[in-house]
Amino acid sequence: MRYRFSKPSNKVIPLNRNQIQQLSILSLLAIFVSMTFLILSQDKKLEYNPNDYIVLRKFERNLEVSGHTQGLHFLNSTHLIESCGSYENSEIHYINLDLLTTIFQRVSLDDIYQGQGVDVIDGQIYQLTWRERIIFLRDQETLEVLENRRLKIEVNESLGISHSYDKDDTLEIYITNGTDKVLILDSEFLLKQVIQVQFNNGSSVGRLSEIEFVNGILYASTNLNPIILAINLTDGYVQLSFQQIQEKLL
Ligand SMILES: *[C@@H]1O[C@H](CO)[C@@H](O)[C@H](O)[C@H]1NC(C)=O
Ligand SMILES: *[C@@H]1O[C@H](CO)[C@@H](O)[C@H](O)[C@H]1NC(C)=O
Ligand SMILES: *[C@@H]1O[C@H](CO)[C@@H](O)[C@H](O)[C@H]1NC(C)=O
Ligand SMILES: *[C@@H]1O[C@H](CO)[C@@H](O)[C@H](O)[C@H]1NC(C)=O
Ligand SMILES: *[C@@H]1O[C@H](CO)[C@@H](O)[C@H](O)[C@H]1NC(C)=O
Repeated sequence: MRYRFSKPSNKVIPLNRNQIQQLSILSLLAIFVSMTFLILSQDKKLEYNPNDYIVLRKFERNLEVSGHTQGLHFLNSTHLIESCGSYENSEIHYINLDLLTTIFQRVSLDDIYQGQGVDVIDGQIYQLTWRERIIFLRDQETLEVLENRRLKIEVNESLGISHSYDKDDTLEIYITNGTDKVLILDSEFLLKQVIQVQFNNGSSVGRLSEIEFVNGILYASTNLNPIILAINLTDGYVQLSFQQIQEKLL
């Protein structure tokens, strides 16, 4: 199956922060896809550097939906939740990857909010807003807001969200705030810990944006495009950084 991709518009506009984030998020999508690919192609003796990734699928959103991707999360192997747009046109919806560009269950945000990262925690969808410090808890079926929660920390921005459970099985929520830090919050959104993320060689990791916690590692996109960082949250060091090496559309 082939996923087509083309730019949503031909207008020439300088890259702004949102577009940079969008690129980063597309990269993050790509890594999940390429991991699937690597699993599927185990016996094909492909030569690749484990620090690299291959873009396998790109797809074009339905043109009715405008705005940059701000948050992306795999609900399951076929369905993505996407949070997109900016002030006055933010929305959240599902994308069915098996039916190519099928977007459904579209729900708009009020004009005063810009949607950001999304995650599913204990069966509920959490959606960040950019500068409003409001988190929407949404119903998984309808995507309607069940509850508004307030971020109780002094952050100018909130971009990416993910989570895991500590050794006592207590929920830890991870948030990026447009810096090189990952904020660890408790279930009441109170700050527990700040992790300074760094390369072993001391170079800056840039602005972290979209994040996904998988098997003990936090994967993050950054404005140092196009790379994806694998971060150990215990010490804050980047263990690996993945670079895009090619596009191999299936
Ligand atoms: C993924 O989630 C969607 C939406 O809830 C559901 O319709 C679909 O059947 C699920 N797919 C799989 C493979 O679980
Ligand atoms: C990001 O979060 C850290 C930790 O709470 C805080 O010190 C810093 O001021 C925040 N920066 C911005 C730009 O929000
Ligand atoms: C947060 O935003 C305010 C207002 O724009 C600014 O004065 C302040 O320096 C920013 N804080 C950080 C940590 O970037
Ligand atoms: C530090 O390591 C990162 C990741 O490998 C690399 O991108 C960066 O260029 C390095 N910085 C220096 C100064 O070597
Ligand atoms: C993360 O770093 C800690 C301390 O350096 C180490 O003990 C742990 O094994 C690392 N975790 C992973 C998943 O590599």
